[in-house]
Amino acid sequence: MNIVDILLAKRGGEALNEEQINFFIESYTAGTVTDEQASALLMAIYFQGLNTSELATWTKAMIDSGERLDLSSLSAPTVDKHSTGGVGDKVSLVLAPLVAACGAAVPQLSGRGLGHTGGTLDKLESISGFNVNLTASEIVSQLDNIGVVICAATENLAPADKKLYALRDVTATVESIPLISSSIMSKKIAEGTESLVLDVKVGSGAFMKTLDLATELAETMVAIGKEHSVNTAAMLTNMDLPLGNTAGNALEVEETLECLAGGGPSDLREITLALAQEMLELAGVSADPANVLDSGKAMDSWRKMILAQSGDPDAPLPTTDIVEVMTAGDFGCSSSAPYLANLDAYALGIAAWRLGAGRSKKSEPVSFPAGIRWLAKPGDEMTHKMTAEQPLLELYTEDEKLLPLAKADLFGDSDAEAHPPIVFAKNPTAGAELIHKKIK
Ligand code: URA
Repeated sequence: MNIVDILLAKRGGEALNEEQINFFIESYTAGTVTDEQASALLMAIYFQGLNTSELATWTKAMIDSGERLDLSSLSAPTVDKHSTGGVGDKVSLVLAPLVAACGAAVPQLSGRGLGHTGGTLDKLESISGFNVNLTASEIVSQLDNIGVVICAATENLAPADKKLYALRDVTATVESIPLISSSIMSKKIAEGTESLVLDVKVGSGAFMKTLDLATELAETMVAIGKEHSVNTAAMLTNMDLPLGNTAGNALEVEETLECLAGGGPSDLREITLALAQEMLELAGVSADPANVLDSGKAMDSWRKMILAQSGDPDAPLPTTDIVEVMTAGDFGCSSSAPYLANLDAYALGIAAWRLGAGRSKKSEPVSFPAGIRWLAKPGDEMTHKMTAEQPLLELYTEDEKLLPLAKADLFGDSDAEAHPPIVFAKNPTAGAELIHKKIK
């Protein structure tokens, strides 16, 4: 088998056979196919795609590149959720303990933030002492004891994806439906969960900007899950507006605690409960997640999880003294345009990232207190009519020099083609639809 023949075949639009795909994934994981050759194949796939049979073989080869977790010893049904990533998306932090408190076991192997989207592990690490690196046997034993774990994927789980994802990130080959779906599903299948709900984000702050593309991605992932006997469903949810009221690691943990206490932003609660309902249905567990959330049992599960992973649930979260308040007037609010009409998720995500909440290279540390709190959202009944002096955004950073860069993103100065990210209008704007559709 020759890698150059494989490159020629895919470049010319031919379908690859099982032997070719297995050879590529095995050899690239082992290091005998180079990054240059793998980059060429990824770019060829970006343009030529993979057909259904190639995608099935490609995903299986990625799963088989490493270990699979064996969760068969657990008595509770296992169910996980994966989000394709968004701004202010702290749903996993509330959802995993909530679904565990309802009676299922939730093995949530998560990732770190990259670019404008935050990562669950970075958020959790803002809790003093919290350990995200567990072994396979620690994961199983924690699930057995308390029903929930949120940690990093073990080193040997889908190692082909670890290498391919890092390469895609630097070769402009991330936004490909076969590559995204095989990347996500290989990890989730190798994780050993029986059921899986996918939260596919749609909109400016998501990978998938249109409902059509998001639908194609969701259908592709649901089909891969079913082929591997994982009970899989997907929900398509709005990411034109950011979720909740904050983006940033410690800020999002603070909001998580509000939601676990039965309060918090209404959109966060609504999406969390809808996903919980779907997960419980797939897992065959009958419980009312809203009651469980309000009863405080989800908070109990959260506290047990933090303690089990060496964190201190009562430790104060990291804060910063450098907080800049921007008013509605900074963004054009006036008595003739008093209604907030847009609060663009992508611009807020990028600005939070610039303030230090995210990283641009995998090896960089993140700032825990950095981020943004928005004090109004389009459609908010209480706040949508504003005055120019009213505070609209709080920017948090540990480095004052980062403030001008973040402000440029919020004003849309860094992209001359873009519509202004934050817009005020003469008339009120209806709230955006949060949940577009479900795919099973
Ligand atoms: N998340 C992943 O794990 N993989 C992708 O390709 C995109 C998002």
